[in-house]
Amino acid sequence: MAAIIQVKPLTDVPPHLSASAQPQDPAFYQDPYPFYARQHGSHPAFFWEDYGHWCFADFKSVSALLRDKRFGRDILHVATREDIGLPVPNPHVADFDLTEKHSLLNLEPPDHTRLRTLVNRAFVSRQVEQLRPRIRQLAHELIDGFEEKDSVDLIKAFAAPIPAIVIAEMIGLPADMAPQLLNWSNRMVTMYMYNVTRETELDANAAAADFTAYLRDVIAERRKSPREDLLSHMLMTDRDGDVLSEDEVISTAVLLLNAGHEATVHTTGNGVKSILESALDPKTLFATPEQAEKTVEECLRFDAPLHLFTRYALVDTEVDGIPLRKGDVIGLMLGAANRDPARFARSDRFDPFRSDGANVSFGAGIHFCIGAPLARIELQESMKVLFDRLPQLRIVEPPRYGNVYHFHGLEKLMVSWR
Ligand code: HEM
Repeated sequence: MAAIIQVKPLTDVPPHLSASAQPQDPAFYQDPYPFYARQHGSHPAFFWEDYGHWCFADFKSVSALLRDKRFGRDILHVATREDIGLPVPNPHVADFDLTEKHSLLNLEPPDHTRLRTLVNRAFVSRQVEQLRPRIRQLAHELIDGFEEKDSVDLIKAFAAPIPAIVIAEMIGLPADMAPQLLNWSNRMVTMYMYNVTRETELDANAAAADFTAYLRDVIAERRKSPREDLLSHMLMTDRDGDVLSEDEVISTAVLLLNAGHEATVHTTGNGVKSILESALDPKTLFATPEQAEKTVEECLRFDAPLHLFTRYALVDTEVDGIPLRKGDVIGLMLGAANRDPARFARSDRFDPFRSDGANVSFGAGIHFCIGAPLARIELQESMKVLFDRLPQLRIVEPPRYGNVYHFHGLEKLMVSWR
C-alpha cells in the first residue's frame, strides 16, 4: 500500500470550500506557499479537488488531528478492502508491499505500540547525543573533499551523505554502502509520487527486492556473530518472550534507512537556502548551541521537507462540520500549518530568533518522528561546521525543488565560497 488513496468520490462539497492546485504543476510545487496563504485567508479546511479529499492547512487542526484517535495511518485493522472499496494489492509490487507491511508508519495500536517500543530505545536523545563528534567529523571530511573546487552541488556533496552514513552505521551497515542505500531508497520513494506509472512501480519494486535480499544476507551474518549495532539489537530484543520476526526487522531497517535520510537531506538543503537568502549573518545563527537549536527549528518550520500526510477516518465522524465516513481520507498539511499566521507571528518571515514555539515538521501523536532527536543533532552539527568552514558560502544558480510535491526538497543547490 504505497500511497493512501481516497477511493469513494465525495459529493456535495459546497463550491466555496473547494480548491484546486495541481501537485505536478512546477509553478505550484516550486512555491506552494501562496496557495497556503490563500487557504489560510479563506478556508483552511477545504476540499482539495486534485487529490479528491478534505485537507487541513491550519496549525490548530493539523496538530489536533495528528493526535486524534478517530483517524489512523492504516484502516485494514478496522475494515476490509471490500468494505471501503480499496483495490486488491498488485502482484508486480509485492516486494515493495512486503517492506511496507510491518512498517511502523503503516501500523496502528496494538501492533504499532509493540514494534515502536522495541525500536525506540536506540533513538532517544541520550543515545543519539553520543553521535555529535562523528557527525562533525563527517562534515569536515566532506568539506575537505570539495573545498579546493570553485563550486559544488551541496545536496550531493554534503547534505545527502551525512544522514545516509549516520543511519547506515547505526543500523550496522558499512559506510561505503551509503551510495547504494541512497539509490534503493530514492527509487522506492518514487512510489509516493502523484499518479505513479507502472514503469516507476516496477523499478521501485526491483529496488525493494534488492534492498531486502541484501538485508537478509546481513541478518544471516549477524545471527551468527552479533555486533553492537541496531540490527543485532533488533534480532536479539526480547520483551517477555516477544521477539521481532525477520520480516519485521527488514521492514524496520528499510523504514529507518529511508526515513532516516530523505527528510534530513531536504532540510539541510532547504535550510541552507533559507539562511543564504536571508540577510542574516550565518555566524550568529550557530554562535551558541542554544542558538543553533533555534536556527534548525526555524529551518524546519519555514521550509518543511514533508508537506502532506494523510489519515483514514476509522469511524463515521465529523470535523469542523465536515461529515466523514469510515475509510475517507483527510490530508494534514504540515508545510502549511507551519506558515499559519494565526500560530506564528510574521509566519512568512525566516526568523531564527523567534520564540513562538514548536512546529509540526516531525508530526505529532503516536507516529511522531522517532528520528527527530537524531535529525536535529545532524542538522545542528553539520550546518554549524559548514558555515564555520565556508563563511563566504553563496548560491550561484537558482535552486529548484524536486517534482514530488509532498517531499519538498531541492534537486540541486549549487554554491560557491570564493
Ligand atoms: C528533518 C528530518 C525528518 C523529518 C522532518 C521527519 C518527519 C517525520 C514525520 C512528519 C513523521 C510522521 C508521519 C505521520 O505522522 O504520518 C515521521 C515518522 C517517522 N520518522 Fe521521521 N523525519 C525526519 C528524520 C528522521 C530520521 C533521521 C529517522 C530515523 C533515524 C526517522 C524515522 C522515522 C520513523 C521510523 C517514523 C515512523 C514513526 C511511527 O510511525 O511511529 N525520521 N518522520
